[in-house]
Amino acid sequence: MSSRPLAPPIEDALGRPLGDLRVSVTDRCNFRCRYCMPREKFGAEHQFLPRAELLSFEELSRLTALLSGQLRKVRLTGGEPLLRKDLPDLVRRLKREAGLPLALTTNGVLLPRFAAELADAGLDRLTVSLDALDEAVFRRVTDADYGVENVLAGLEAAERAGFSRVKINCVVRRGYNESEILPLARHFRGRGHVLRFIEYMDVGATNGWSSADVVSATSIVERIDGELPLEPVERALPTDVASRYRYRDGSGEVGVIASVSQPFCGSCSRLRLSADGKLHTCLFAATGTDVRGPLRRGATDEELFELVQRLWQQRTDRYSELRAQLIMPRRKLEMSYLGG
Ligand code: GTP
Ligand code: 5AD
Ligand code: SF4
Ligand code: SF4
Repeated sequence: MSSRPLAPPIEDALGRPLGDLRVSVTDRCNFRCRYCMPREKFGAEHQFLPRAELLSFEELSRLTALLSGQLRKVRLTGGEPLLRKDLPDLVRRLKREAGLPLALTTNGVLLPRFAAELADAGLDRLTVSLDALDEAVFRRVTDADYGVENVLAGLEAAERAGFSRVKINCVVRRGYNESEILPLARHFRGRGHVLRFIEYMDVGATNGWSSADVVSATSIVERIDGELPLEPVERALPTDVASRYRYRDGSGEVGVIASVSQPFCGSCSRLRLSADGKLHTCLFAATGTDVRGPLRRGATDEELFELVQRLWQQRTDRYSELRAQLIMPRRKLEMSYLGG
């Protein structure tokens, strides 16, 4: 947690202060996870964002720096952020110009190439996605030319580069990888990393989500507790998304993110910036607010700050709390585009 003094918070229409920025640096990925970028929808003919439409490192740093007084942390996401050319240069620049705790979410397979450079550039924290240890399950979920050993090699590279408490994210989808909950818990216990199981969400419009596919966080905790007894741990911050548990034998921590069964919209402080410079005030947004246009037309820092302030002050999003009551299907953006 940062101890920097914060500027007066900007609050949204429901009294929630802005606190986190999640920056998507690319909409491309070298995986085709069934629940995120199914190959039939993201095949060879899919039009990814052309380079000229991506915010440059200079533009990203300028925006982040001017919001830094309002932010506790910044997370780089995608798509797969390590596919963005020269990403360590962005990390170095953000650390220098925004001076905030900086985290990165990755599928891990490019870490053998980049972990040391990322550490050297000042990256503070890493999150690695891993949905299965079993090779066949992993390949069925991720549908890519990589295996479990590539992700584990990435994690080892991260450890060698000095990243100690890596968060490991596992999205649990009924019928796909429920069988992996206990093997993953057994594997990561005692290694100093924090494994988190995430309820499968209805983000985007391509994954064919159904509530029957969700394995609840409560049942995940019960399953682990049955073999490896757990006790709850207080959240470090009220805005944290994960409920934390520790193994009673002292072998570490595990978490669950109950985005569907116990939504956390009431404390949601997250603003998302897509790779082409649109701001989104919810993961389930249908549209974004363009900042790239104003940036490229020469807007001043004050004008840009006011644009963000106005957007946040009007914010009323609480999709996950309303999910069950929403009758009309709504057009939703893909997570690979607006950032996980
Ligand atoms: P920190 O930046 O370290 O606090 O990371 P985190 O604990 O917020 O976790 P991370 O960014 O890895 O998010 C984990 C998962 O939680 C995401 O992949 C999403 O599935 C889910 N999640 C994160 N933020 C939100 C959110 O704002 N709304 C919903 N519904 N789910 C979210
Ligand atoms: N539900 C929950 N989490 C998801 N992620 C991607 N799609 C979904 C979904 N439908 C997670 C990934 C990764 C992060 C980028 O977002 O597993 O940890
Ligand atoms: Fe890529 Fe992550 Fe989406 Fe999988 S979940 S396709 S690794 S962005
Ligand atoms: Fe925040 Fe929207 Fe997620 Fe609720 S559904 S926690 S408002 S991003």
